[in-house]
Amino acid sequence: MDENLNEMISDLKSYLEYLKGMGIHSIPASEIEVDKPGPSPVMTLEEVRKELGDCKRCKLHRARRTIVFGEGNESAKLMFIGEGPGYDEDVQGRPFVGRAGQLLTKIIQSINLPREEVYITNIVKCRPPQNRNPEPDEIQSCHPFLMKQIRVIQPKIICALGTFSAQTLLKTDTKITALRGRFYDLEGIKVIPTYHPAFLLRNPERKREVWEDMKKIAEWLNNHERIKESDSI
Ligand code: URA
Repeated sequence: MDENLNEMISDLKSYLEYLKGMGIHSIPASEIEVDKPGPSPVMTLEEVRKELGDCKRCKLHRARRTIVFGEGNESAKLMFIGEGPGYDEDVQGRPFVGRAGQLLTKIIQSINLPREEVYITNIVKCRPPQNRNPEPDEIQSCHPFLMKQIRVIQPKIICALGTFSAQTLLKTDTKITALRGRFYDLEGIKVIPTYHPAFLLRNPERKREVWEDMKKIAEWLNNHERIKESDSI
C-alpha cells in the first residue's frame, strides 16, 4: 500500500484512540480531516471536574473531606503529579499546600517559574486515611480522570513526584531511585520522575538530586522555547 496512505490511516487510528480515551465513541464524518495537525483538546478541565462529580468510585470517598482535583495553568507546559492529598490538602481542597507543598513551591521557583504557571495534581484525588499509601484499586479508579487532565493540558513535560506517581504513569514497578532523572514517554509527553518533596523533608541530603532533575527540565523547556521562537521568525 502507498506509504502516505499508511501514514494517514495510522494518524486516523491514533486520533480515534485519543477520542476514545476522552470518552467519545463516535464522530460526525465531516470532522475526519486526516491532514489536520495532531488532535486538539476536546474537553476542558472544568468538564473533567464535572464528570468526576461527587466521586464515590472508590473507598477513599468515605473518609475524605474534599476532592482535591488539581490547580494551575490549563495550558501549562510543565505538570507536577504527586501521590495523593494529605491533611492540609484535604482541608483546603488544594494540592500541595502543607509542608511538602511549600517545598514543592520552592522547587518550582528554583527554575524561575511561578507556581501558578504549572499545573499540579495527584495520582489519587482523595486523602488516604492516616496518609497511608494509595491502594491499586484506588489508583485505578482515579486513573481515567488523571489521563483526561493530562490530555486536556497537553504539557510538554510531566514531573512525577515519588514512587507512586512514577510507577503509575510509567506502568512499572522499578524503584524511584532507578527511575529518577531520566526522560520517559507518555503519549508523546516527556515524563521525568524525581523524589517526592515529603521524602526530601525526611532526607534533605537528597535535595541535590532533585535540583539536578529540575535543571534538566529547565534546560529542555528553554531549548524547546528557543526552537519555537526561531521557527516563528
Ligand atoms: N503529597 C502529595 O503527594 N500530594 C499532595 O497534594 C500533598 C502531599
